[in-house]
Amino acid sequence: MAIRSALITVMTGAADKAARRLRRDFGEVENLQVSKKGPADFVSAADLRAEQILREELSRARPDYGFLMEESGASPASGDCERRWIVDPLDGTSNFLHGLPHFCISIGLEDKGELVAGVIYDPLKDEMFAAEKGIGAYLNDRRIRVSSRSRLNEALIGTGTPFKGHGDAATFLAEANAILAETAGIRRWGAAALDLAYVAAGRLDGYWEHGLSPWDTAAGIIMVREAGGFVTDLAGGRAMLKTGDILAGNEAVHLALSKILKQVAAAA
Ligand code: IPD
Ligand code: CA
Ligand code: CA
Repeated sequence: MAIRSALITVMTGAADKAARRLRRDFGEVENLQVSKKGPADFVSAADLRAEQILREELSRARPDYGFLMEESGASPASGDCERRWIVDPLDGTSNFLHGLPHFCISIGLEDKGELVAGVIYDPLKDEMFAAEKGIGAYLNDRRIRVSSRSRLNEALIGTGTPFKGHGDAATFLAEANAILAETAGIRRWGAAALDLAYVAAGRLDGYWEHGLSPWDTAAGIIMVREAGGFVTDLAGGRAMLKTGDILAGNEAVHLALSKILKQVAAAA
């Protein structure tokens, strides 16, 4: 059984519609790889088109809600409404640009500053992750839970790496070094929202990354929580959307990783 609430229906409907467009555009990117100009401009246009569709669909269904969108920024809610959508129309842009089939749409919903629902959709695998506060997290029609692996040496950990002009490579390398020494391995898939969805589905046992934006993580945070997992910033607090730093996992892996990351920070 999937979540049948009106809210999730609005969110999955919008994601579905934008995904149809992204799927077509991804096919075109694969053609453009071989052209001299390359697909970069085309991909920025695809990103904007997806965002436009999401904005239209979400505001048609919920005209009062505000927005925080990656491409077009913030627009306030109207009247007394204290809800806003936090949207990444295309998470995993570098993958999309390179014809790598791993990207998603991410839609989070905040109510008075608290995350209450999230939808993350991978259009190529047709995997719709949805979570609503107090109701649980689902992948398509199936309830999902974080993994039960508690031993770090069996745990697979997702992350994001610094890249040209972004992030602190020295810190990342120190953290990765420490985590590699104790876990079954690290994965860098390139779409933060899917990393969090995979933690929720028990595919990854933990995940950490620095320097993210609210649209990368809003939907994923509620997804992991509703799947029974733990999500904090790297100091153990709840300021993930503000600091852009995030640590997620099942309870045991979250705790173990947080100890390792604190040791690395103390040694720096
Ligand atoms: C990026 C992806 C990536 C993460 C980057 C994000 P974008 O989002 O989520 O996994 O490591 O920091 O910026 O640019 O593809 O929407
Ligand atoms: Ca993103
Ligand atoms: Ca994006």
